[in-house]
Amino acid sequence: MNIDDLVAAAFAIRERSYSPYSGYTVGAAVLADDNSVWTGCNVENISYGLSICAERVAITKMVSEGPRRVAAIAIATKDGGTPCGMCLQTLAEFGDSALTVVVQSESGARSSYALSELLPHSFTSKEVRGA
Ligand code: THU
Repeated sequence: MNIDDLVAAAFAIRERSYSPYSGYTVGAAVLADDNSVWTGCNVENISYGLSICAERVAITKMVSEGPRRVAAIAIATKDGGTPCGMCLQTLAEFGDSALTVVVQSESGARSSYALSELLPHSFTSKEVRGA
């Protein structure tokens, strides 16, 4: 799967976005290290804090079905927004700092980052890890 196909998968799943409160639709497609692809859209709730981002839907689907390492993620939005901090920390849990994060807007503007550019200092702790 190349990046163009991953971006296309993100735009396709964005159609499923349930976002009646914000009106901001997001699609995400994760490429796992076994080359499987996992997609997700944002799913909002009338109790706003229960809403979940597209990226974490996709990552949760991946982990619950077996793969545990993210190689790349593509995110589709109207304006090319980058992932929120909670989603970046989730990516840090399941990918290395060099993993590719691609965002693309409806107009086709594409930006590509290493995870470490967007989240240079993810939370980690030897205490928590027990290492
Ligand atoms: N959202 C995502 O799906 N991913 C992000 O990284 C940031 C924001 C969603 C949450 C909410 O449903 C809508 O976009 C507006 O914040």
